[in-house]
Amino acid sequence: MSKVHAVITGVGGYVPKYVLNNAEISTLVDTSDEWITKRIGVKERRILKPDEGKGITYLAEKALENLKIKKDFDPLEIEAVVFATSTPDYILPNAASLIAYRAGMTKAFGFDLGAACSGFVYALEVGQAFIASGKYKKVMVFSGDTLSVVTDYQDRNTCPIFADGCGVVLLEATTDEEIGILDGILHSDGNSLESLHMWGGGSVNPADHETVNQRMHFIRQDGKVVFKRAVTEMSDACETIMKRNNLSKDDVKWVVPHQANMRIIDAVADRLDVPMEKVMVNIEKYGNSSAGTIPLCLWEWEHKLHKGDKIILTAFGAGFTWGATYLKWGYDPT
Ligand code: COA
Repeated sequence: MSKVHAVITGVGGYVPKYVLNNAEISTLVDTSDEWITKRIGVKERRILKPDEGKGITYLAEKALENLKIKKDFDPLEIEAVVFATSTPDYILPNAASLIAYRAGMTKAFGFDLGAACSGFVYALEVGQAFIASGKYKKVMVFSGDTLSVVTDYQDRNTCPIFADGCGVVLLEATTDEEIGILDGILHSDGNSLESLHMWGGGSVNPADHETVNQRMHFIRQDGKVVFKRAVTEMSDACETIMKRNNLSKDDVKWVVPHQANMRIIDAVADRLDVPMEKVMVNIEKYGNSSAGTIPLCLWEWEHKLHKGDKIILTAFGAGFTWGATYLKWGYDPT
């Protein structure tokens, strides 16, 4: 008998209403639409404003509403909720418990997973392992961030990139090898703290007047270091996972890279020798919503995905963390 593994049986997504375009960014920092478009590839990004809602669970709830329109499921059958995010509503309790309660998934246990922009590929690996253990059959994976709350709109190195958004996928057990999550690769390297971090708010520099005055509650990065590592690690992870599953570039229907920078996406596609028509890209309108980018691509492309389509996901983020997932899509468009 074939082994039990997880398959994505539904996807939902949500981006907040407020459109922060490059013209507005150019009023905040010394930059231009031309520079951002050419060097990053973002034209506009979505930001959650308090008059619309607050917190990542607001976006998660909206994403789940979107999933529910397309996929019927009983919330009481969900056994685990995994929430990949670096911007939970509060340091405690976790966002997963809050959304599980609000969505009526009251039989599920929930926890948050911190892997920054790699959150979705990490969460899929965890959800897949739960289901492959045979102990659980239905796992809800949320993945997203409200990076606007940790973005310094006086820092031109970061504010044109970051955005808000959230996706959700339902994982269910299957023994059909023609669908589902078939392989995953995860890595991390904690020697890269200086290159991508937020110094304030944790247990080393808990929030006080000084951390606020020194603007330590915002993400800082060495863009060049992040750029080079992201290209190398995402390409290598894709190459490894394709090789060990005997996949040629022609076998792969879609590559779904984390939407960090258009030039990073181009470089990864180039190294894999995959044409851009097979690469999901929506960075120009949604920017980098960290753990949100990959599920938001799946959400947007869902109507083009067919049962059995071979898909490679890949991500890179703070930690550094990175990885790749190989899956076969679980269902045809309705
Ligand atoms: N507008 C105008 N000029 C800018 C700018 C902006 N928004 N940001 C940086 N610059 C300037 C720099 O100050 C520098 O000027 P100088 O030569 O006078 O010092 C010049 O542009 C080149 O800077 P550089 O850092 O070499 O630019 P870059 O081409 O590497 O682009 C990033 C900077 C941040 C866009 C790019 O490195 C990047 O996207 N890195 C990856 C970041 C990322 O993905 N982070 C998320 C983690 S997953």
